[in-house]
Amino acid sequence: MTSYPFADRAAEDERLVAQGRLFDPLTRRLLRRAGIAPGMRVLDLGSGAGNVTRLAAELVGPDGAVVGVERDPAAVELARRRTDAPNIEYRVGDVRTLDTIGGGFDAVVCRLLLMYLPDPAAALRRAASHVRPGGVVCAHEADLAYAPAAPATPLWDRAHGWFLDALEKAGFERRMGPALFPAFRAAGLPGPRLLVETFAGGGPDAPAWGWANVIGATAPLMERTGVATAAELDPATLADRLLADVLAHDGCVFGPPMTGAWTTVPSP
Ligand SMILES: C[S@@+](CC[C@H](N)C(=O)[O-])C[C@H]1O[C@@H](n2cnc3c(N)ncnc32)[C@H](O)[C@@H]1O
Repeated sequence: MTSYPFADRAAEDERLVAQGRLFDPLTRRLLRRAGIAPGMRVLDLGSGAGNVTRLAAELVGPDGAVVGVERDPAAVELARRRTDAPNIEYRVGDVRTLDTIGGGFDAVVCRLLLMYLPDPAAALRRAASHVRPGGVVCAHEADLAYAPAAPATPLWDRAHGWFLDALEKAGFERRMGPALFPAFRAAGLPGPRLLVETFAGGGPDAPAWGWANVIGATAPLMERTGVATAAELDPATLADRLLADVLAHDGCVFGPPMTGAWTTVPSP
């Protein structure tokens, strides 16, 4: 079972837009470090609701262009509705083939995509073949197994543990961030440079909602994999309960460490 796990697309796109509030600042810094700059033509893989496509479009400016490729037509529709930027184009397509996408891009980027693919190295190799020699391949992926709260509490441990178990049983890579370097090498690419960053905070603004956002959305997968029932998880109240737990323990919340990896495509 390795197809994308979040089947309710309208809810999923809403979730991705919200998630962007936490991840976009990190991704913007990564894309800058990777050299995404004015005038470039960039391909964004697994564009979802379009967050990374829009970040890249901001950096390439009016003289550049970004193409977002996404398998789900409903997501493409939503992403198109979210922008009227003339330098953005969204296409329905599968990143494992990219067969309707032309070549010669200056860069290919992706975020939180490779963890869902059965063969991330093959996808990177395919993506790199659409980039000109000297162009950039850049991926941003999470280490979802890292402790999300300090101190750990039974509620946090249970919810996070169910989340990790469901992902593992479904065959997804929960620690894709640390797996990026070997995946780039297995794709035949030069060893990438790495940047690791996350968001964190305590008190009433602790980003517990960020974890509830993704853990709650995993309830159907937990049920399918026999890990927990939706009633046990109770997604509707999860954010409030996780935050109350943090406040009760004077604790804090950590986002998943996000590894950014980037390299340049060698000449053939
Ligand atoms: C977690 S979302 C990330 C979306 C976006 N990159 C972001 O960070 O906001 C992963 C996206 O990849 C898409 N996806 C998964 N497998 C795909 C494939 N084989 N080809 C194209 N898109 C795919 C999913 O439909 C989903 O929209």
